[in-house]
Amino acid sequence: MEKRSLFYPLDQEGLTTLRIQYDWKTGNVFLQASKDWDEDFDWSRYNHDFYVESIKTRTARLLNDVETRAMYEKYGISDYLEEVIDLVRQGKHFGIDCFYNKRLDIRYLGNMHNRKRGINNTRHGVMKGGIRRHEKDENELEVIIDGLNLARAMTFKNIAGELPVGGCKSCVMMDELDLNNMDVCGFLAFCLDEMRCSTGPDMGFPTEMTDVMKDNGFSVQYTCGPNGPLGSSGPPTAYGVFVALKEAVRFLNGSDDMTGMSFAVQGLGEVGASMAGLIADNVKDAKIYVADINSARVDEIVAKYRAKGVDMEAIAPEDVLFAKVDVLSPCAMGGILSEETIPKLNCKIIWGSANNQIKASSVEEECRLSKLLAERNILFQTDWWHNTAGVMFGYEEYKYQKDASLKRTYDDIDRVLPKNTWLNLNKAKELGLTPTECAYKTVMDELYGDD
Ligand code: NAI
Repeated sequence: MEKRSLFYPLDQEGLTTLRIQYDWKTGNVFLQASKDWDEDFDWSRYNHDFYVESIKTRTARLLNDVETRAMYEKYGISDYLEEVIDLVRQGKHFGIDCFYNKRLDIRYLGNMHNRKRGINNTRHGVMKGGIRRHEKDENELEVIIDGLNLARAMTFKNIAGELPVGGCKSCVMMDELDLNNMDVCGFLAFCLDEMRCSTGPDMGFPTEMTDVMKDNGFSVQYTCGPNGPLGSSGPPTAYGVFVALKEAVRFLNGSDDMTGMSFAVQGLGEVGASMAGLIADNVKDAKIYVADINSARVDEIVAKYRAKGVDMEAIAPEDVLFAKVDVLSPCAMGGILSEETIPKLNCKIIWGSANNQIKASSVEEECRLSKLLAERNILFQTDWWHNTAGVMFGYEEYKYQKDASLKRTYDDIDRVLPKNTWLNLNKAKELGLTPTECAYKTVMDELYGDD
């Protein structure tokens, strides 16, 4: 392990846990390091023979704030610790829980942004956000930056979906997960419970992880496994984007009738294929261009809808962004709207599922670029305000487990997303902000305004 790691002093001192907590109201940062279990502790019996609250060692240790800081000083990495604390401060994060399992060689970073929405939700999980895996040799600071940003984005998304949970993101530096290793699975379930989060597997973890967690009685805080009750989150996500789009069209044209409009869909994966299908099935006389780097996928979708008499055509992946259409729907990847691409766009509305469509590393930069889009008379609101149905879908499973219902999810989408898009677009106009700036203002006012 590198010396410039939050885990290095834990490793050297035989400790397991570091908690960094920030209170944005007072500016206080509190640290605590501890030994909470013995190295040979067997995690495969988690939630069977012991629980998250169980005392797991006879030789527990606890270092207070002063002692923890002194420990990082002793190993010459106080400046690194301060760098991480500064990131927590900048993002007004609740903090980071770090769990170190020396024997299993797992470094778990539980990035927690905000609990305000979740604390009175009457459930165990007060925050929600994905769990992703990183290689052990990745740069730890970059993993932390990524995790903190994603945790914050989850707070915003959960507000957009009107969910009673705050935002978090677990980033785990470890070898590829062996789904048969109950020791490892039990430990990962424990870490999530310590943070009081619910999650779904994200990059680097297989979705089967959820089924293993449930089938072995480790955790019901994991959702969206292949054997889950709801299937893929792609179609509901596309549906949410589509019903919100209708409000954007209504805002622009005075009616949500899209008859005869033209569309370009970038990406025909889980969400994009459903989006193209929703347009094809619901918009009379639509002209639809579709693009994907997987040309077989494009051929399959185009053939399917042309057979139904839909005017659908393939467009090259390098041209789709600049197609002359009414609506461009990015459903492939983020970072596509930049200083370079914005002047070349030829659409009136940009409305898709892709996360982080504007290429920016800060909210300020995202808002600046959103103004360039507005100057070009292109209607756009930040994606997390309307691509949140996937998260609503995950919460439905978390709340109702095997009784989760797609019908209720779609009802919730219908109830929440069109209304909030309509409100955001009109509020933005009233305040003279871009819809992106306005969405950020709404969540910031809720999180940091007067209680
Ligand atoms: P996916 O991986 O199923 O599909 C992405 C598709 O884009 C693939 O077919 C891929 O070949 C294609 N693609 C990649 N590069 C491309 C390029 N340069 N030009 C054209 N096509 C390209 O992913 P999924 O689940 O459909 O998600 C799409 C976007 O929506 C992602 O940004 C994802 O983060 C976001 N999203 C997905 C949600 C979900 O529930 N699946 C929820 C919220 C957001």
